[in-house]
Amino acid sequence: MTQNRFPAVTEDSIAVLIDTFYGRVRRHPALGPVFNAAIAEDEWPDHLETMRRFWSSVMLASGRYSGNPVAVHRAVAGLERPLFADWLALFAATAADLFDPGPAAEFAAKAQRIATSLQLALFHRFGAPPEGLARRPAA
Ligand code: HEM
Repeated sequence: MTQNRFPAVTEDSIAVLIDTFYGRVRRHPALGPVFNAAIAEDEWPDHLETMRRFWSSVMLASGRYSGNPVAVHRAVAGLERPLFADWLALFAATAADLFDPGPAAEFAAKAQRIATSLQLALFHRFGAPPEGLARRPAA
């Protein structure tokens, strides 16, 4: 899509973003199997509705979402840390396809921040060496 992008974040443009993004997620070689195993066919409409409310709360401060994403993600089988890079790349690309550069960048920045805090909550162990740093060899 090269024109007619959404100039603004609204409930309607969020709905299009969510439907497009999760359509792509479900066809993605790494993300698809994890999502499709966690969310049954007849549960997808509810999931999409939850995600519309979530992004409405994040972008429009509408307060439409309440929930506990950390607890929900803890229960997702196969949610490995490297998948977050795929998720973020696909989300940013989808936002850039659908929105003008300003709102697209705003979506990408919010997603990046939320993904970072989700990963810290899910994967960080206090006392463990920081991610990416080699452990010092035992003396
Ligand atoms: C690789 C990364 C991710 C995977 C595989 C993943 C997977 C999932 C799955 C399978 C669910 C539905 C669980 C269920 O209803 O049983 C879910 C829910 C959700 N995800 Fe993710 N997710 C990822 C990253 C993210 C990120 C980065 C965000 C936010 C920016 C996010 C926000 C949410 C929210 C808000 C819910 C709904 C929680 C609720 O039910 O209240 N997820 N995710």
